[in-house]
Amino acid sequence: MKPLIAPSLLSADFLNLDRDIEMINQSEADWFHLDIMDGVFVPNISFGFPVIEKIYQKASKPLDVHLMIVEPDRYIDRFAKSGASFISVHYEACIHLHRTIGAIHQAGVKAGVVLNPHTPVDLLSAIIKEVDFVLIMSVNPGFGGQKFIERSYSKIQELKKLIITEGSSALIEVDGGVDLQNAHQLIDCGADILVAGHSIFSSSNPTDTIHQLRTQN
Ligand code: DX5
Ligand code: ZN
Repeated sequence: MKPLIAPSLLSADFLNLDRDIEMINQSEADWFHLDIMDGVFVPNISFGFPVIEKIYQKASKPLDVHLMIVEPDRYIDRFAKSGASFISVHYEACIHLHRTIGAIHQAGVKAGVVLNPHTPVDLLSAIIKEVDFVLIMSVNPGFGGQKFIERSYSKIQELKKLIITEGSSALIEVDGGVDLQNAHQLIDCGADILVAGHSIFSSSNPTDTIHQLRTQN
């Protein structure tokens, strides 16, 4: 199966966001990946609602909103109203994860849970049937352009096993350091959705890089 490709706008040119959104609209990409950082959960601050709402007006593909924030429950309805089709929250940021996933669904949005590199996959066994996707962080969250963590391959394999064992239909998303060198192996291990920022936006032909990521298998 071909993976879904979700370019991360964190690596876009914010002075030419209109142009970069249009490039993704015209490409074979499937989703827009939006990284929301609060400066507390991660040591960086990205962008918020006014920017997301503008992206939503221009984007012709679904918005995949990755929340790197504490207490995400406080803002779920607002992200849903801003145009999110997918919202993912960090396992490490949610004390009542089951309730948070329920609130995302209640808002009419697909729900995902994100695991930091140090968080074991088996912690998801009691929630895996409730989520639409699991995002495996293959770098420590907070910044684009970091080096891919090799241990992520076996985490994806473990997650795929868990999904099958539990009879879940969750998709597997991978985020961080994804490029044309590792995409094939990630898909082999069970990844369904590839997020890529730096490898797309720093390439000489982003549209072609998206095409190549999509046809790696
Ligand atoms: C990192 C973000 C990623 C980031 C990926 O915290 O969650 O989505 O933009 O960027 P690359 O592909 O450059 O590692
Ligand atoms: Zn992300």
